[in-house]
Amino acid sequence: MSNRVRKAVFPVAGLGTRLLPATKTMPKEMLTIVDRPLIQYAVDEAREAGIEQMIFVTGRGKAALVDYFDMAFELETTMRDAGKSLDALASARTDYGEIVAVRQQEPLGLGHAVWCARHIVGDEPFAVLLPDDLMAGTPGALKQMVDAWEQVGGNMLCTEEVPAEKTKSYGVIAPGRVDGDLTEVLGLVEKPDPQDAPSRLGVIGRYILQPQVMQVLDAGTRGAGGEIQLTDALAKVIGTQPFNALKVNAVRHDCGDKLGFVLANLALALERPDLGPQVREYLASL
Ligand code: UTP
Repeated sequence: MSNRVRKAVFPVAGLGTRLLPATKTMPKEMLTIVDRPLIQYAVDEAREAGIEQMIFVTGRGKAALVDYFDMAFELETTMRDAGKSLDALASARTDYGEIVAVRQQEPLGLGHAVWCARHIVGDEPFAVLLPDDLMAGTPGALKQMVDAWEQVGGNMLCTEEVPAEKTKSYGVIAPGRVDGDLTEVLGLVEKPDPQDAPSRLGVIGRYILQPQVMQVLDAGTRGAGGEIQLTDALAKVIGTQPFNALKVNAVRHDCGDKLGFVLANLALALERPDLGPQVREYLASL
């Protein structure tokens, strides 16, 4: 078994109903933050963390996601013939490693989406990145997790403190021993009411997992909302393998929701040297 994290699963088969009507025909992960689609931020973060194989779990209407990572031959030739600079494409033409796509034939939940990648993942640890959680940090969130994971192994979740009234939107951690930014995970509860939440440590969209979780997911057990939940499967392997959660040094933008999406565009535009000053001036004028 590899003791490096070489593979990453990107579950991108969800319906994105919170962003309708934009997501009626456009995959949520292809929506743009400033000048690049959400998926590119996640793939760049994975590359920085040393991931060699990107496994997209896609569904109906998501072909644009996979096409995006091909060289755009006609576009590049036409631009070159017209004497146009290819600089704007440069950020989308880096080496993305190997791209593999598998299908989730029905959106039965995040746990089911991850399980759809089981044959490609095989018998090695793997990362999971949810592209709608855009993590802005240097180094990137997954790189910070991989560095911590190399010390402790097992399963590792990414966590952040969430407001008490928001626990119902997250998987929530029952915490054990705390060592700096690392917290031992003793239990996990999916979407608890505030009074039932074991802490305010919510699970956010980055994971490093052991392949054994795929065997738990084989059972196809339905949980909250009738969906096959990843959190429920992870809860079952606690106690059999080291299990920790890391608070990373990064800002999370929840781009799966309209407000988070708009704020992410603003926050990232403000940080850009080529756009920030004008955006700031316009906001001040409002
Ligand atoms: P979300 O909970 O954001 O669901 O999924 P969603 O369907 O994408 O969006 P809404 O709630 O309808 O607006 C979290 C992640 O899991 C993936 C999504 O694509 C997203 O990256 N997912 C979810 C799947 O791939 N398949 C599923 O069946 C469910």
